[in-house]
Amino acid sequence: MKTLVIYYSLEGNTKLIAETIAKETNADILELKTKKEYPTGRFKKYLWGGKSVLLNQKPDLLEIDLDPNEYDRIFIGTPIWVGTYAPPFNTFIENCNIENKKICLFACHGGGGAKKFYTNFKNKLPNNEYIGEIDFLEPVKKNTEESLIQVRVWINNLKS
Ligand SMILES: Cc1cc2nc3c(=O)[nH]c(=O)nc-3n(C[C@H](O)[C@H](O)[C@H](O)COP(=O)(O)O)c2cc1C
Repeated sequence: MKTLVIYYSLEGNTKLIAETIAKETNADILELKTKKEYPTGRFKKYLWGGKSVLLNQKPDLLEIDLDPNEYDRIFIGTPIWVGTYAPPFNTFIENCNIENKKICLFACHGGGGAKKFYTNFKNKLPNNEYIGEIDFLEPVKKNTEESLIQVRVWINNLKS
């Protein structure tokens, strides 16, 4: 089964999980990058990132050099922003035409969980089979080793 991991990460948490998944599943990996980067400052990130979610923005992305439709299984990962997925996925969803794939969702958050992300994402990208979901509390800073064990167990228990 050909596997792809697609993710966006502002501060490295989702990146850590994405890279672990890619290594464990022998997958290709695609990082979504915005042409204009969101700021990472302590307050600025909430202001600009939050505004971007609330305005439902579709930030321009750097060119993507692989075709997700060539894969059977796709892992999709995002930080949780204002309860849901980060806006780079608005742009991605609009342009990707992904259908009939096995999709696994993963997210990193600051304590609010990822339920709304799972629901919103599935509604935005229907006509796929969603076979798994998992979320982590800022794994770069908290429970790093436990999080990486958890992600490996999750992968091994996914139905193929
Ligand atoms: C704009 C913005 C909004 C956020 N909103 C939430 C939220 O609603 N709930 C939550 O639990 N964490 C929220 N966070 C925290 C991030 O989800 C958390 O720090 C995550 O681990 C960051 O992942 P990353 O390092 O891959 O960017 C927010 C962070 C930013 C920058």
